[in-house]
Amino acid sequence: MKRFFSLVFLLACLGLCAGCAALTGSAPEVIPEYVLTYADNQPEGYPTTEAALEFARLVEERTGGKVIVQVQADGEFGSEQEILTQMQFGGVDFARVSLSSLADELPVLNLLQLPFLYEDAEHMWRVLDGAVGQELLEQVQQLGLVGLSWYDAGARSFYCRTRPIRSAADLQGLAIRVQDSALMAEMIRLLGGRAVILSYSDVYYAFETGRIDAAENNWPAYQALRHYEVAPYFTVDQHTRVPEIQLASGRTWEKLPEEYQQILLECAAESAKYQRQLWTEQEGRARAAALDSGCVEIDLTEELLEEFRALVQPIYDEYETLYPALLEKIRNS
Ligand code: GCU
Repeated sequence: MKRFFSLVFLLACLGLCAGCAALTGSAPEVIPEYVLTYADNQPEGYPTTEAALEFARLVEERTGGKVIVQVQADGEFGSEQEILTQMQFGGVDFARVSLSSLADELPVLNLLQLPFLYEDAEHMWRVLDGAVGQELLEQVQQLGLVGLSWYDAGARSFYCRTRPIRSAADLQGLAIRVQDSALMAEMIRLLGGRAVILSYSDVYYAFETGRIDAAENNWPAYQALRHYEVAPYFTVDQHTRVPEIQLASGRTWEKLPEEYQQILLECAAESAKYQRQLWTEQEGRARAAALDSGCVEIDLTEELLEEFRALVQPIYDEYETLYPALLEKIRNS
């Protein structure tokens, strides 16, 4: 009997709730068809993670809540290499990674990050936004990934724990952290340093313990991970521009209806525009903040530039032989 009354009470409550929803006009909650993960190794507030959140917002809006993208910043899914492995199995659905993390597996991608390749940022964007950028974005399919868009990561420069770097002689014998990339390790060797491959999250500690003397990155990363605290001498040599790439797991992609794939591509393109805008603002802000915190900026001289360029020439000899036509197109863009 008691049970019967409880049931009647429950049904009455449900009826009342439905009535309230009808009266207030509140829409019934949408049940998502897909809840997908997105990894980024940069902290919250960084231009790439902010743009990832914008991507997620747009996707939710345009699929009417049917596709939800959950962004995990700060390397919560591990290093970029670990994220890429998980993506190949469909364990992580989307990510933004540095091109350097991918290029060992598909060396043609190195063409976009050769040292001293671009005249300036505009030149890089003409390449990425043009036919070469599109062709190389599509080629990542060979790795079981879908290239969605290019994000900006500015220019990378050297910074040192112990002394200002003003010439190649200053790099001789230094232990210099690089990304997990054969090309970047080779660049360091040609410049006279000793390459130490470490993941991004380990760089600060490696400076603290003296395992490395120098590293290289852009102003926003240098500032966001507080590397200026442990390596205050920043030489603006801008030796590479390494684009960021926004990716989907191929396994995830093939499960999605074409209609959603189309929406995801549109949202990725829009988030990329937004990221570039955030990037431009952040480059100046990060530099100013690092300088305020005691970083010493060393300006690039024409001699240093010429010296570095001559030293890395063997890399060009190799890539000119491997991909002459593509390299020519990049140069003429
Ligand atoms: C860039 C990039 C990171 C990358 C880092 C690195 O700052 O945004 O994704 O991990 O370089 O040097 O490893």
